[in-house]
Amino acid sequence: MKDAIARIELDTPRLRLRTWQDEDLDPLAEMCADPRVMRYFPALLSRDDCAAAMARYRIHFARDGFGFWALERKDDGRFIGIAGLAWSRLHQPFCPTVEIGWRLARDQWRQGLAREAAEAGLACAFERLQLPEVVAYTAAINEPSRALMGALGMRHEARDDFDHPDVPDGHPLGAHVLYRITRDNWVDTRR
Ligand SMILES: CC(C)(COP(=O)(O)OP(=O)(O)OC[C@H]1O[C@@H](n2cnc3c(N)ncnc32)[C@H](O)[C@@H]1OP(=O)(O)O)[C@@H](O)C(=O)NCCC(=O)NCCS
Repeated sequence: MKDAIARIELDTPRLRLRTWQDEDLDPLAEMCADPRVMRYFPALLSRDDCAAAMARYRIHFARDGFGFWALERKDDGRFIGIAGLAWSRLHQPFCPTVEIGWRLARDQWRQGLAREAAEAGLACAFERLQLPEVVAYTAAINEPSRALMGALGMRHEARDDFDHPDVPDGHPLGAHVLYRITRDNWVDTRR
């Protein structure tokens, strides 16, 4: 029988980017019920929604070896959010492609933690997985997330913008922007 695919976990100075544990559901559900964290999503997520999301993350790791990691602080062991890489579920001209994404508990913001996790994710994408490109997308009005994309060296081109198919027409969160980074761009950001 073929060996199970190895599930990648990463380490940064302050964080473990690890696979999912059942105990993550409580803090994940708490984070996804916080209107400040979910401000740029069409709706809060229920505990059942979060359990379904966790199941999807685990399936992605089992199939591809990478995915959206649970973020654990090294100093106190606390689960503080999500960041990682996943095959996009969209059917847009830029697909198939791997996206990078992030969501942190409110009391963890502006400490450089999302950037630390995302930089480790991009290094994994380009060095270990040898992907040619990674994208990120978000609601056009999500300035914090867009600023993080820019800080990572990702580039936005208006011709890639799209209306998210899961958001009703005319909704303020419908208009989405796409940012890209190729392996060559990423190598340049590290010079
Ligand atoms: C987006 C998010 C993950 C950023 O997390 P964070 O840990 O606060 O980000 P960092 O501290 O690593 O910030 C890195 C850079 O991102 C940018 N940034 C982050 N938050 C910002 C904000 N509120 N306003 C402007 N720029 C911001 C800055 O360039 C920042 O660098 P700096 O602190 O040196 O100026 C966090 O705000 C979040 O979880 N938001 C809700 C979930 C969400 O919208 N996810 C994205 C959906 S696509």
